[in-house]
Amino acid sequence: MQIGIIGTGNIGGTLGRRWAAAGHAVYFGARDPQQAEVQALVAELGPRAQAGSIAAAVAASSVVLLAVPGAATVAVAAQVPDWGGRILIDATNGAPPAGYASLGQAVAAAAHGARVVKAFNTAGYNIYANPHFGDYAADLFLCGDDGEARATVAQLAQELGLDPLDVGDLGQARLLEAVAFLWIRQAMQGGHGREIAFKLLRR
Ligand SMILES: NC(=O)c1ccc[n+]([C@@H]2O[C@H](COP(=O)([O-])OP(=O)(O)OC[C@H]3O[C@@H](n4cnc5c(N)ncnc54)[C@H](OP(=O)(O)O)[C@@H]3O)[C@@H](O)[C@H]2O)c1
Repeated sequence: MQIGIIGTGNIGGTLGRRWAAAGHAVYFGARDPQQAEVQALVAELGPRAQAGSIAAAVAASSVVLLAVPGAATVAVAAQVPDWGGRILIDATNGAPPAGYASLGQAVAAAAHGARVVKAFNTAGYNIYANPHFGDYAADLFLCGDDGEARATVAQLAQELGLDPLDVGDLGQARLLEAVAFLWIRQAMQGGHGREIAFKLLRR
């Protein structure tokens, strides 16, 4: 699969590395694709990776990960005039704009023609680098309005060793965003550090 990745920082870099290692082609979309950090990432990943403008990364990909700061998320999503049915994975966290219950729903309103799935926002990038906790794998919470898009994202998570947990429609994005802030709180102020993840236990 050709996966576009907008944002080449902690989340974009980590997931780009892992999807490339899993055999996918990754196309990083950046404001400045010639930036040293972006070029270093492409060089590290070899022939499976390339970088270009955000428009080029989206045009080349069937699935696009959005991994920019929360304050930039909606504007970046709106920058693409027509997403043409592509799957847009919104991994961002931040305050939703006025009138929206979640950033994920604001992204969906701004990204015309995208099938938005909220995912990869509920744990630190270090968990997506290594989701294994002994016998358990960290859960990957996801939600979105399109069932096929959710299934594709679940598959992409599973390939990285995560345990996908489909939470339902995009209206649930506010819950996923709350879980993210709970993770941040526990990692930073809760005294647990970053090597933590949430898991739904069943019996
Ligand atoms: N860090 C985590 O553990 C974690 C976990 C889950 C979710 N998240 C969420 O994921 C998102 C990214 O976090 P991160 O830690 O990966 O951030 P980061 O390391 O600061 O990277 C942010 C990336 O976004 C790009 N960017 C910033 N503003 C942009 C804009 N206006 N247009 C296009 N690209 C822009 C930056 O590129 P430039 O060089 O051009 O600035 C950089 O590549 C955030 O919303 C965060 O809340 C983070």
